[in-house]
Amino acid sequence: MLTSDQIERYERDGFVVVPDFVTLGECAALRDRALAIVDEWEPTEARTVFTTNDQERQSNDEFLASASSIWCFIEEGALDADGRLDRPKRVAVNKIGHAQHDLDPVFERFTYTPALAEVAHDVGLVDPLALQSMYIFKQPGIGGEVGCHQDATFLYTEPVTVTGFWFAIEDATLENGCLWAAPGGHRTSLRRQFRRNSASNDDGTTFVELDDAPLPRPPDDLVPLEVPAGTLVVLHGLLPHWSDINHSPVSRHAYTVHCISASADYPAWNWLQRRPDLPLRRLEGVAA
Ligand code: FE2
Repeated sequence: MLTSDQIERYERDGFVVVPDFVTLGECAALRDRALAIVDEWEPTEARTVFTTNDQERQSNDEFLASASSIWCFIEEGALDADGRLDRPKRVAVNKIGHAQHDLDPVFERFTYTPALAEVAHDVGLVDPLALQSMYIFKQPGIGGEVGCHQDATFLYTEPVTVTGFWFAIEDATLENGCLWAAPGGHRTSLRRQFRRNSASNDDGTTFVELDDAPLPRPPDDLVPLEVPAGTLVVLHGLLPHWSDINHSPVSRHAYTVHCISASADYPAWNWLQRRPDLPLRRLEGVAA
């Protein structure tokens, strides 16, 4: 699937951009399904606001439980002083996460394809398990910055194997908050780990500092990845990446799948712990 040049670029830079990986029709179908999920979703009293600065992330029972469910996270900027939505759900949601690839047939078909399994193999991921999925809306006007981070902070294995598969469902531009990445940054240390405080979903989470070496500073230390809809970007788990506020009048939808190797150790302190009745599945094609 990947050319030898693309594999070399992944090894050198820690990421690779694969144009035209999915069709615009496939993007449109996923987008339609994501919007339908939002339409069907009823916000509860204790809403989860996904604070885009990870340090301020409000970890609560619903966030931790989303490991095994399909949950809609609301943008902070879409709540009034009483914590009620001040706009329609479709333009208030930050993301859907984190198990739609195993719980929704449309997301499942998009995720478990022989082509994606082949890409995972090409970048050296052995026995990939689909750990988490996110459908990210990056709303016009309120779609916030996602601070520079390494995905292995949030999804840790020993050794580090987490690999991100980022699909542009809509065009990603400088104006609407495309991804930025630090070429070669995957060869630097993991700076910190995001850990649950106990096996219970009620006890919250903590960042554990491992190395105080600063992450690359946006935007100057990173390069922008402006890509059209249908593009796949593969990201090494140690690669520092960032995305800016959406300054444009249009959304920037993206879908991400994060995989780990089944052969690596997955500590029980990772925030994401699946229910026993919803085990992780190997990344491979499913019958259509
Ligand atoms: Fe990330």
